[in-house]
Amino acid sequence: MRHTLTLSAAALAAILIAPAAQAADLTLGKKLHSENCIKCHGAEKYSAPDRKVNSMSTLKTYVQGCATNLSLSWFEDEVEAVATYMNKEFYKFK
Ligand code: HEC
Repeated sequence: MRHTLTLSAAALAAILIAPAAQAADLTLGKKLHSENCIKCHGAEKYSAPDRKVNSMSTLKTYVQGCATNLSLSWFEDEVEAVATYMNKEFYKFK
């Protein structure tokens, strides 16, 4: 009984901690971005006056879209890490 309670508390903690873990993925995001994403466009595209991305969710859609075009088959957390890095470095959405 007591054991079960401990386990579910740990599971709950993992859920609560998850967003903080994503924030710590900047290093991964930076690495993935520099290895895969600067062949066609550089940062100038992200700050161009006619840029398409105008929110965190469109940013994720574009990251996913470009990654899919490149056949990278990234997992959700890799897309998330790159979007988080790009937001911090270039887009700066709140
Ligand atoms: C094969 C060339 C190519 C590569 C490599 C590439 N992209 Fe793109 N990307 C494009 C093109 C073309 C556009 C413009 C599409 C448009 O304007 O609708 C674009 C647009 C974007 C935008 C939107 C820019 C804006 O604000 O208008 C984002 C974000 C983006 N790419 C992210 C990435 C990421 C992340 C990677 C690495 C996984 C990547 N791209 C790799 C071709 C590429």
